[in-house]
Amino acid sequence: MAFTRRQILAGLAGLGVVGLGAGGVRYWLGRPENVATHDYELIAAPFDLELVLGHLTPAWGYNGLAPGVELRCRQGERLRVRFINKLSEPTTIHWHGIRLPLDMDGVPYVSQLPVLPGEYFDYNFITPDAGSYWYHPHTTSSEQLGRGLVGPLIIEERESTGFRHERTLSLKTWHVDEEGAFTPFSVPREAAREGTRGRLTTINAVPNPTLELPAGQVVRLRLLNLDNTVTYRLNLPGGEARIYALDGNPVKPRPLGKDYWLGPGMRIDLALKVPAAGVELSLRNGPLRLATLKGVASSEAPGEWPAALPANPVAEPDLVQAETLRFNFEWTAALAPESAQGGRAKYWQINGQAWDINDKTCADRPIANLKLGNHYIFVLRNMAQYQHPIHLHGLSFKVLDSDRKSIIPYFTDTYLLGKNETARIAFVADNPGVWMFHCHVIDHMETGLMAAISVA
Ligand code: C2O
Ligand code: CU
Ligand code: CU
Repeated sequence: MAFTRRQILAGLAGLGVVGLGAGGVRYWLGRPENVATHDYELIAAPFDLELVLGHLTPAWGYNGLAPGVELRCRQGERLRVRFINKLSEPTTIHWHGIRLPLDMDGVPYVSQLPVLPGEYFDYNFITPDAGSYWYHPHTTSSEQLGRGLVGPLIIEERESTGFRHERTLSLKTWHVDEEGAFTPFSVPREAAREGTRGRLTTINAVPNPTLELPAGQVVRLRLLNLDNTVTYRLNLPGGEARIYALDGNPVKPRPLGKDYWLGPGMRIDLALKVPAAGVELSLRNGPLRLATLKGVASSEAPGEWPAALPANPVAEPDLVQAETLRFNFEWTAALAPESAQGGRAKYWQINGQAWDINDKTCADRPIANLKLGNHYIFVLRNMAQYQHPIHLHGLSFKVLDSDRKSIIPYFTDTYLLGKNETARIAFVADNPGVWMFHCHVIDHMETGLMAAISVA
């Protein structure tokens, strides 16, 4: 594992804090020993992070890391996290992509009250699906996620897979200047367009890292887009890579192809056949290098492509009996100049409704009321020139087709709806609750592009 020195230091500092907080509980890889009540203690706190060499950034992290400590759980088992808020403001944790009960979903005033400074909250739920997921707050999101409160959540398959090696690569483009100081996380004129972009792209908080991988082996690369704004156009010129899962859900393995657009909140699991020792590949975002993947000598026999990953237990929607509902994602910036009332301006709406991020009662007015157990097709229509990674909490949906791309139907929790695209998704409404339905460009979500879907 190619740790950098500064990440190890940050990690040790974080675990020190954890040890104190737990009254002497000892940790091994972040998992406490001899604790009956929880598997992980997760502490959100400010800390200094060296993103720009020689400069410290006043980040917020989980257990002294940003992106936060990697949490792992086995599929079908219970994950118990004692979350402690050592920030100076309220927060929550949302478990992106996990199909869980509403009261564990981390949405303030819908799932739970915000966790106040100094308080803790015990999250406790079963993880039904294997795959690459992540966690983040659902409060003051542009700043909290922007400062680093994002982290990987890996749910391991029930049975062992053919992968003997894996790496988690958390992508984030930080809003920092050349000296590591934060720049604004959200700028109105950007929020009304593609969202406010950061400047410094990193993988696991390191700009342009070199990852050493065992030559000749097949390595599972879990790529997670934990950024507020950026869609990474992933490509790996000259590399032998196959897609094994999208947003946690297995697909029939296929070559990575020319490029894959990974929108905010989305994940892709690739199998990479690592080149010979000394040979380097560039993992890129369009023409820009994100990381160097370098083969290093390995004594193991060369690896073969593993079999497809086992499907997750997601119910298959019946398109014949499904009811169709339509959702238009609209741009209204021309109609809504900077809000006069002091709140966030609203630049976006769904079917004529803009979510008000400061109104605690929005979820009382769901945009759709679904009947528990029924089947639905959603027609998602993007009326704008900007793309939206559309995300639904609490449920996984199947992407059926699109008027712009050829789709091999697959299950996901987030679909990147392109400019002026119309796509159809379908699912069984089998999890009761009031589920957020929003764009994962945080700027868009906070300026109107969110709604609640009720399932009862
Ligand atoms: Cu990552 Cu409301 O979600
Ligand atoms: Cu989510
Ligand atoms: Cu959007």
